Amino acid sequence: MIRQQIPSPENLVSIAMMPQDAAHALLSRRNRDGTLDAPAQWNDVLETIINHRSVRGFLPDALPSGTLELLIAAAQSASTSSNLQLWSVVAIEDPAHKARLATLAGDQQFIRDAPLLLVWLADLARIDAIAAERQQTVEGTQYLEEFIVGVVDAALAAQSALIAAESLGLGGVCIGAMRNLPEQVAAALKLPPHAFAVFGMSIGWPDPAKATDVKPRLSQRVVLHRETYNAAAVHDAVADYNAVMRGFQQEQGMRAVDWTQQCINRVKDAAALRGRDRMREALRNLGFELR
Ligand SMILES: Cc1cc2nc3c(=O)[nH]c(=O)nc-3n(C[C@H](O)[C@H](O)[C@H](O)COP(=O)(O)O)c2cc1C
Repeated sequence: MIRQQIPSPENLVSIAMMPQDAAHALLSRRNRDGTLDAPAQWNDVLETIINHRSVRGFLPDALPSGTLELLIAAAQSASTSSNLQLWSVVAIEDPAHKARLATLAGDQQFIRDAPLLLVWLADLARIDAIAAERQQTVEGTQYLEEFIVGVVDAALAAQSALIAAESLGLGGVCIGAMRNLPEQVAAALKLPPHAFAVFGMSIGWPDPAKATDVKPRLSQRVVLHRETYNAAAVHDAVADYNAVMRGFQQEQGMRAVDWTQQCINRVKDAAALRGRDRMREALRNLGFELR
């Protein structure tokens, strides 16, 4: 890291910035397809975002005091639809409570190991309660649309918290398995009706002995559509990506899995959803009508 001047006429500030070659190398690591030019602009925020990798190996060390509140301030700084703020988060630090949730969420050991577990909620209970206080009822919260709003709000908030954590040298990983047993998770967290645990997130200090690399993503050729959707590039780009992923798996000492087949297997049929095929029923049980 070196200090460089940002050539901005209004705001000439000095920030820690990677040299341009290192920035280009990191950027190229994201897709590994050699298509991206050296970035014309660069800063620490981009470095943090593009350097993301999920962390599942944690040191037992506690987080510095105030970290949780800082992460939640970052989460609350995310955009939120109509400023409704239809999300909440439950922070779990008690080891026994964390272990119970780990068991419910696919028995993933890293949940026990990390000092902090955050469970991000789509929270429509709060707006119901606010309306009830004024002796008013709201019907709109029973529509699928507002459920989507809650899920989107929760995801945006969570991502901001994760980036904030990574900017502090912490690591984390999202936990979709928190939806494996939605009613049991809701009971464990004492959620009111009309609140739903969208996903979890473990946060802690990355164990340097279990360091991982940036996991490559699909080429921008298939995810970036200009003006209208273009399905034509998919075939070649996906074949290339399967090769890139094979290389990544080899480097990381991971089992070789064909990415295309992995995607197909993950969504092949109801059984492939590993219990989450009953999500509509679970949501109804939790007070979501999804009209
Ligand atoms: C909503 C969501 C749920 C996830 N659930 C899990 C999970 O339950 N267990 C896990 O090990 N990783 C989980 N992940 C992490 C992904 O596997 C990971 O983000 C993906 O493989 C890309 O790797 P990277 O984050 O290191 O770039 C989840 C990620 C997201 C966004």
